[in-house]
Amino acid sequence: MSHSVFIEKFIERLGKIDPQRIERYLSSLAEELSLFEGIFESMPEGIIVFGKNRKILLINHNAEKYLDLKELSGGRLIDDVAFDDSIKKMIMDAIQGTIDVFTGELEVTYPAHRILSLQVTSLVDTNKLAIGAVVILSDITEKKIYQQQLARNEKIDSLSLLAGGVAHELGNPINSIGIHLQLIERLVSDLGQKKREKIIDHVLILKEEIRRLDRIIQSFLGAVRPIKGEFEEEDINHIIEEALKIFGPELKHRHIEVKKDLDVTLPGFLMLKTEISQAIINIIKNAMDAMNHGGVLSLSTSIRDDKIVVKITDTGPGIAQENLSRIFDPYFTTKEFGSGLGLMIVQKILVQHSGHIEVESRQGIGTTFKVILPCRKKKRQFLITSNDNNE
Ligand SMILES: Nc1ncnc2c1ncn2[C@@H]1O[C@H](COP(=O)(O)OP(=O)(O)O)[C@@H](O)[C@H]1O
Ligand SMILES: [Mg+2]
Repeated sequence: MSHSVFIEKFIERLGKIDPQRIERYLSSLAEELSLFEGIFESMPEGIIVFGKNRKILLINHNAEKYLDLKELSGGRLIDDVAFDDSIKKMIMDAIQGTIDVFTGELEVTYPAHRILSLQVTSLVDTNKLAIGAVVILSDITEKKIYQQQLARNEKIDSLSLLAGGVAHELGNPINSIGIHLQLIERLVSDLGQKKREKIIDHVLILKEEIRRLDRIIQSFLGAVRPIKGEFEEEDINHIIEEALKIFGPELKHRHIEVKKDLDVTLPGFLMLKTEISQAIINIIKNAMDAMNHGGVLSLSTSIRDDKIVVKITDTGPGIAQENLSRIFDPYFTTKEFGSGLGLMIVQKILVQHSGHIEVESRQGIGTTFKVILPCRKKKRQFLITSNDNNE
């Protein structure tokens, strides 16, 4: 017999039942209820149950947290929840029993930026009649970020592959053009003065253009070349101080105030120093570019769960929402003379260090780049030596 049927019978006969039995039964019910409440509250998902009257019947802590509903829960309606109209319609359909299951995704920006997966199911009674809807929300932000990073890494890999080919294909003809220009230079010496000067002028222009092409190819190759070198234990604070020294005059010139909050107790950790330094420089450079008319550049280092976190914040104009997902793309730039390779290089270096980067930007307020690196140490090596032929 199900609980509800049992309770109905129990109530019918309530007058005839001995009070002690009622008490025992009620306290066992209370125990069971608190067990279910405990489970409901400790679920990693956010759960909201809507009743026939569009009211929230039940909501757990995670759902309140995800949707910032703390103060609203008591007796509130579906319209108080920050769902967009299409989701509200799905919930209404589920309440009416016209759909069984609906899944989708939802992006919330307050109180935290989260991507939530959403599942709406119809709540039915024992007669299979719809009496409400259950909404289950799961936080898939990290999964999404990870997927985006995977996609970016794939892009970098294919670009590197392409780069090798491009260098090979372009390098040879450029060389050959250079050689032929030299030959032409020599041949024209036999011509009359006027013609010779004219031709030499053209040749000089061509030579300059070839040098430019060569520079473009070299910088492109620089961006995609495989990272080489030995990982050593280095001090990240020192790297940041050095980068700031490089930019010292420019920061001053642009009236940018620098605020440092470096954790001096940070241990050294394994890295390729030149590469990490390059990554930090690229991020600082962007922050400076974003603060043409002065501002504050804040840098902090800290350690959390064996991970080193470097935070670089500017008070620039921020990054438009539609550009946020593109800033790591090769050649994406919003600057007149930008290469669009800076952040791609940062990304590549971090992948090499098993780290990653996070960005948070609010338009009109500023941007924060968070570099997260594993704090790896040199492994002690225990060598097994054989003593056979010694001494
Ligand atoms: N701190 C920042 N503030 C605002 N926009 C930024 C910031 N950092 C990066 N960006 C945006 O990301 C784009 C790509 O950056 P990057 O890869 O370094 O290339 P580039 O600096 O050559 O444009 C920039 O053009 C800019 O639009
Ligand atoms: Mg840049």
